[in-house]
Amino acid sequence: MKQLIEKLSSKQLLESDEFNQLITTCLKCDNTFNHLRNKATLIVQEQFGFGIYTRGLIEISSYCRNNCYYCGLRRDNRNATRYRLNDDEILSCCIDGYQAGLRTFVLQGGEDAAFTDNRLVDLITQIHRHCPDVAITLSLGERSAESYQLLYNAGASRYLLRHEAANVSLYSQIHPSKMSHDNRISCIKSLLATGYQTGMGMMIGVPGQTIAHLIDDLLLMEQLQPHMIGIGTFIPHPDTPFGTHSAGDLRLSLIIIAIARLMHPYALIPATTALATLTPDGYLQGILSGANVVMPNITPNVARPHYEIYPGKEHSQSTITSTLSNLSQQLATIGYHINSSRGDYKKRN
Ligand code: 5AD
Ligand code: SF4
Repeated sequence: MKQLIEKLSSKQLLESDEFNQLITTCLKCDNTFNHLRNKATLIVQEQFGFGIYTRGLIEISSYCRNNCYYCGLRRDNRNATRYRLNDDEILSCCIDGYQAGLRTFVLQGGEDAAFTDNRLVDLITQIHRHCPDVAITLSLGERSAESYQLLYNAGASRYLLRHEAANVSLYSQIHPSKMSHDNRISCIKSLLATGYQTGMGMMIGVPGQTIAHLIDDLLLMEQLQPHMIGIGTFIPHPDTPFGTHSAGDLRLSLIIIAIARLMHPYALIPATTALATLTPDGYLQGILSGANVVMPNITPNVARPHYEIYPGKEHSQSTITSTLSNLSQQLATIGYHINSSRGDYKKRN
């Protein structure tokens, strides 16, 4: 197995059966699993040292026009409490975050028609006026190429749009027929072509997913070369069609994060909230598998419980400063620290 890990580390692509062998061996053999994770963290250390980038996550709207089968914010979930932050609320989150030292803000929300291009352009302009030198990341789903361009021109420089499933038939099993795999991929291509630092990714353990599907995800990302890669674990939400399925496997999630790191040495890979929801030291486990970004939630405390993509997400009532100092302390236990620069994607060496 060591040869396969070496092969990946030297930027050679594995054959599908080699990927399969590596993943299944890591699932059952602690030595191989640890070796893979060690390789992944060594690559991070070579490229980024022991600094972990932070991004202030602002969940701006829990309204969504889509109906993804896995997500608690889906339109047909009548039990969800919907909210939408106003521009002043979003701006004051950024200002507070800026004062606490954050230099990237992620505006994330469901696909909410209230966030028109005009409104977002204004908002992006205001954020840059009050918080110069920050990076603004958007995570607002599928929009037109024109919209992506307008928002980029206004000063948003990064966009997260997970592809969710590279495999077309899996994609259609976890989304209603109205949503199209083709459109998803063309949105990602148009983000890349516009010049965004672009994030892709998927959940581990979504119902119907096999290891072969995960290999398809790795190969799609190899083809498109995203700058950011978000890999979370599926957690069932009771008010969704997938509510009675079991959660994805944490170990498999860490294996895929580590493989993604070997394949993308320069990428920005977050230790996702889903990992932290599954286990108290989830962020640290993610970092020890090759992640190098953490996205502390800075959404106003009153709104947080209502952004329930899946249950069990921590909604602490702590201030931004105490969240960051808590994170610093946690990172210190494994020898890492916060790197408070913007952390743009750059090709290194
Ligand atoms: N469990 C884990 N992650 C989820 N997401 C949506 N629903 C769930 C769930 N039940 C992820 C999707 C989406 C992002 C906003 O959250 O990958 O892109
Ligand atoms: Fe909406 Fe995103 Fe949830 Fe799908 S995953 S329902 S697009 S918020």
